[in-house]
Amino acid sequence: MNKHLLSINDLTSEDVIRILDTADSFREVGTRVIKKVPALRGRTVVNLFYENSTRTRISFELAAKRLSADVINFSTGGSSVAKGESLKDTALTLQAMGADAIVIRHSSSGSPYALTRWVHGSVLNAGDGTHEHPTQALLDVYTIRERLGRLEGIRVAIVGDVLHSRVARSLSFALVKMGADVTLVGPPTLIPPDVAAWGVQVSHDVDAVVPKLDVCYMLRIQRERQRQQYVPSVREYSRLFGLTTRRVAMLPEGALIMHPGPMNRGVEIDSDVADLPQAVIEEQVTNGIAVRMSLLYLLLGGSAPPPGRAEDSEREEAGADA
Ligand code: CP
Repeated sequence: MNKHLLSINDLTSEDVIRILDTADSFREVGTRVIKKVPALRGRTVVNLFYENSTRTRISFELAAKRLSADVINFSTGGSSVAKGESLKDTALTLQAMGADAIVIRHSSSGSPYALTRWVHGSVLNAGDGTHEHPTQALLDVYTIRERLGRLEGIRVAIVGDVLHSRVARSLSFALVKMGADVTLVGPPTLIPPDVAAWGVQVSHDVDAVVPKLDVCYMLRIQRERQRQQYVPSVREYSRLFGLTTRRVAMLPEGALIMHPGPMNRGVEIDSDVADLPQAVIEEQVTNGIAVRMSLLYLLLGGSAPPPGRAEDSEREEAGADA
């Protein structure tokens, strides 16, 4: 595997399997009384978030802490960024303080690539503009494999504002890489012009696609990234592209409903639908910690083997590994 994770295209299908299998080993850690293993003891992980986040930032923080790394949470409010400090100077400052890994979220596509030129440690892309969100895609793929038992040949629709969605891009790349059959669904104005190169199909008709799915993956309308009016109204969008109770009834039995969060209940997904048993949205969040533990462990070359049994961490916590 590469030293950094900037894009799903950095990974081979074998890398993806390795990340998911390693996450399997780490998931059990989250069920223990002491949710900690010493794999990254003495290493420093910086969460460098220039954009708002709930799930990704907290998930990376928990993942690093469960691996016993030291964690620094950096957000622009309250930092010298507010005084005009550049990304480069911020990166050099973190580098000077010995960051082993920097997890970056930024509104500018390509910022994580720039960061790799200025720091020696690993860089993990936690979402850059409308470009990619690879760790979200990996936790989604993990959740699908966990629930359906396979990735090859599964039929997935990614529905909504694909144009502005870094999740849609990364998830399409990851699913296609693993042999899944992906259809992007949305109004023509919200489908990117370059999708022909993604290896996916495109539809503008949710009702035609839903009855054939194993996974229906809903996207939020990214109002903060839209520079013009892409749909006539939110009500119209909801009627044409929202996942309603009527549409859920058309899904095959056993099909999953997924969403990366944050959700706009009542817009892209009915509130009742988001709370159905086949909606695995909270499971995605839980699995995200194990997947990010796996990534930090693999990219930083953790010093201890992935845990298999509860006794390992209890023994290690007691100092037997020192
Ligand atoms: N899915 C996701 O990236 O959520 P946050 O913006 O809360 O991190």
